Amino acid sequence: MTKTLSRLNAPEHTCQRRSLGNLFDRATIERMTPHVDREVTRLLDTLAEQLRSGGADFAQTVSEQLPIGTIGSWLSLPSEDHPHLLEITHNQVYAQELLPTRSQLAVSAGATKQLRTYFTELIRQRRAAPGDDVLSGWIRTWDELEPDRYAADEALYRLTMFITIASLETTATLLSSAVWHLLDEPSRWTWLRENPEHVEAAIDEALRYDPPIHINTRVAAADTVLAGVPVAKDSMVHVMYGAANHDPRRNPDPHIFDLLRAGSHLSFGGGAHYCLGASLARLETRSMLTQLLSRFPTLRVVSPPVFASRMVFRRVTSLGVAI
Ligand code: HEM
Repeated sequence: MTKTLSRLNAPEHTCQRRSLGNLFDRATIERMTPHVDREVTRLLDTLAEQLRSGGADFAQTVSEQLPIGTIGSWLSLPSEDHPHLLEITHNQVYAQELLPTRSQLAVSAGATKQLRTYFTELIRQRRAAPGDDVLSGWIRTWDELEPDRYAADEALYRLTMFITIASLETTATLLSSAVWHLLDEPSRWTWLRENPEHVEAAIDEALRYDPPIHINTRVAAADTVLAGVPVAKDSMVHVMYGAANHDPRRNPDPHIFDLLRAGSHLSFGGGAHYCLGASLARLETRSMLTQLLSRFPTLRVVSPPVFASRMVFRRVTSLGVAI
């Protein structure tokens, strides 16, 4: 992971990011919208069936499935591979936690190997049969940028693997947490149904209130002073997004979930490393909430979210709902 996009510095970081261009610019998001809408409809049909026969687990039925369906179709990853990719992503994440146990690190190391095998083979196959898909485009770009085929494939492996795993748990957590915070107080659900133009604001408040990534870790490249705090070269800094979002100097009464707050948050990071998939995560959440609000006016939570025992990456493993 130390060589993936989020851990690189300029000039390597700049070069890799430029090679991708603006992945989810307005035109791409518009092009992807009908597909995401259809995928949401399909998942909500399944949810509806489960709700008719009792209760349903929103996290497993919808939140877990939408991000892999979206990124999988965008990168043309065969749908039969999706469950395997979800499993290895969940297992890999331990290595990025603050205090993993030895056995968690072993699970993570195994998952990293599986990711290497999967994405190396994917790139090999795409090279053998290139098309007009996103990954074939990256292969063409990297073959021009990098004369050494081995180095090009290494960069392609890291980018494709990292973008895939960066998109999955993060978005799934936002989907569940947005639904949980809206249903936790039924008047919020009713109000948003009547005022759907505030769906974007609801997404930002969910991101602020309980960000999918709580901590990002950096190492100081030089002696510096950060917000009045001296930081010595080589010391490790844990940037606490959750705490920053709850700073009352930025967001008064931060513990209140307020749909009309129009507050600020750092949940997608900032600067050169700002999240590359923020607009895609927003599109998925907007589409899901818009359809969910209109199709399930009486939706309610029957068992509160269960969170995986983690510090850095939030993960909701179940959220029981009924109508
Ligand atoms: C709600 C969903 C998401 C959240 C909360 C989130 C959050 C973040 C955060 C906090 C960072 C680190 C930013 C920094 O270091 O300043 C990041 C980076 C990144 N994210 Fe996301 N992300 C989400 C969804 C996605 C999606 C859908 C994709 C891809 C399709 C994606 C791809 C990336 C990549 C590639 C980076 C590394 C960017 C770089 O270092 O230049 N993320 N994200």
